[in-house]
Amino acid sequence: MRLFGTSKINGKGHLTIGGCDVADLAMQFGTPLYIIDEELVRKNCSIFREGFAADDIDTEVIYASKAFINLAMCKIINEEGLSLDVVSGGELFTALKAGFPPEKIYMHGNNKTYQEIEMAVKAGIGRIVADNLLELELIEEVCRVSNKSVDILLRVNPGIDAHTHAYIQTSKHDSKFGESIFGENIESMLQHLKDSRNICLKGFHCHIGSQIFEEESFYSEADVMMNFLAELKEKTGFVTEELNLGGGFGVYYSKGDRPVDLKICLKNMLEIVKKQAASLGIKQPKVMIEPGRSIIANAGTTIYEVGGVKNTYSGRNYVFVDGGMTDNPRTALYDAKYDAIVANKAAEASAAEFTVAGKCCESGDVLIRDIELPMAEKGDILAVLSTGAYNYSMASNYNRIPRPAVVLVKDGNARLAVKRESYEDIISNDIMI
Ligand code: LLP
Repeated sequence: MRLFGTSKINGKGHLTIGGCDVADLAMQFGTPLYIIDEELVRKNCSIFREGFAADDIDTEVIYASKAFINLAMCKIINEEGLSLDVVSGGELFTALKAGFPPEKIYMHGNNKTYQEIEMAVKAGIGRIVADNLLELELIEEVCRVSNKSVDILLRVNPGIDAHTHAYIQTSKHDSKFGESIFGENIESMLQHLKDSRNICLKGFHCHIGSQIFEEESFYSEADVMMNFLAELKEKTGFVTEELNLGGGFGVYYSKGDRPVDLKICLKNMLEIVKKQAASLGIKQPKVMIEPGRSIIANAGTTIYEVGGVKNTYSGRNYVFVDGGMTDNPRTALYDAKYDAIVANKAAEASAAEFTVAGKCCESGDVLIRDIELPMAEKGDILAVLSTGAYNYSMASNYNRIPRPAVVLVKDGNARLAVKRESYEDIISNDIMI
């Protein structure tokens, strides 16, 4: 088991995060509870800010907010000097409400609605990342009606086969995202944009997948994209100003995970862009990246109260917790693996192998299969580690279970960032007929 950031075990044998005893947080805020280690979030931002920078190349780090977004998180990201990737009207709304500078917002999505594009154009966001020709026409229409103009990037697909779960691979030839760099559509789009008065094409965006451990995938991506920019210039004369290489840097969840060394990987990506620009004789573009998971995953911990332990006829030991696939659907969806610790028995040796299951009416509602834990019992606090990314943001109300609260911890202080949903919240949009 690996503890991240400010997580420690105190003299009482309790897990502490940000100087707060997790057992006390459970008492104060209730369970389940998402705990965010603010110092680690800020540290991760600085690793990217400093690692993806060099004197001789213009760079920008954009946090992919789909991993975890709320008003407080937008504020932290802004304070840390990162830009923001949003992928829906809801994420854009949150960012704008948090006072995030619109010019530092990038809007993604493979099927943006008229209303979402209108919201983005009216707010004056930095870039819309257009997915296809139909979308260009929609952006054009919104700009014409609102008498505004917008800078865009085109989402392209470099066909890199990054080794990760099939559901989070995004760059295979049959991906729903972007246009392939091997097809004809990109040239048609350039042709279309030549006559546009409202849309200014700044460059290209790609993203090869998520939870990627092979640094080679990122190097191939940079290399393939630079070659594509050179070929495009040769064929059409288009000079690319900006190249966004997306996110996807894998993180440690459990034994066997080997994340790339970010410092090395980020520097090497920049080197490839610089070298290729020189050798291919094209303008060196500004380069962007969009980490989501690698900023927030390890900074999040979900705590649950154990409701009981059950031994099945087949010999499986279940630990039942008061949350489950509603606050963390990743095990059910991707067969994701997590580590956990009994927060109030953090110094005790493991006693048996357990399966951590939630409270949903679903056999697949399992958070962790086969984990060694100390003898867990009713009332214990179980902490599932590295749940910062794609947990709160993918949570649901299945079985009408309210979403947990989110608390930020730092230097012994705990600040509520998102309130726990109430039963009243759950029925707030229902209309009795
Ligand atoms: N940029 C774009 C365009 C993306 O589509 C994504 C993730 C990112 C950046 C950030 O990728 P990251 O650095 O977080 O890997 N729900 C899945 C992950 C889906 C990722 C979707 N796109 C999961 O829980 O593993």
